[in-house]
Amino acid sequence: MPTFSLKINGQNQTVDTEPQTPLLWVIREHLGLMGTKFGCGISQCGACTVHVDGHAMKACSLPVSAMANGQEIITIEGLSEDGSHPLQKAWIKAQVPQCGYCQSGQIMQAATLLNTNPNPTREEILDHMRGNLCRCGTYMRILVAIQEAAKASQGQTLNND
Ligand code: FES
Ligand code: FES
Repeated sequence: MPTFSLKINGQNQTVDTEPQTPLLWVIREHLGLMGTKFGCGISQCGACTVHVDGHAMKACSLPVSAMANGQEIITIEGLSEDGSHPLQKAWIKAQVPQCGYCQSGQIMQAATLLNTNPNPTREEILDHMRGNLCRCGTYMRILVAIQEAAKASQGQTLNND
């Protein structure tokens, strides 16, 4: 079985697995980082969203072999060391989660928006978050939390990638 070297949350990791193994499986099953969730497995829900070189990507649909070229992979566990990312604080303030299952993916998706557009409009937020589904319907609280994080972050650096 081949060995792949990955850089996840700033740490070098090696995993022995088949080339087509989805990154999501590696993150959860090999490395024990359980914050990234399996929802649909077909790139349709966003529960598995992680950052790859600063871009939000769906880990369920990325073969591990394509991720072993030195890309910087960040999961929800690596977004901040202590939950102090402005989005995490805003999520708590707005009491966004219901069941919570989709929320790490939502936060990771939102983080890439604020990294490139620190002061997004309502429409820009809704457009950016369109691919992340929430079966509990927390969409309005997600919107409020992103707006709150954007407000709180004016003049601050959000990017932990
Ligand atoms: S589990 Fe990856 S998009 Fe749904
Ligand atoms: S909080 Fe339950 S799926 Fe989003």
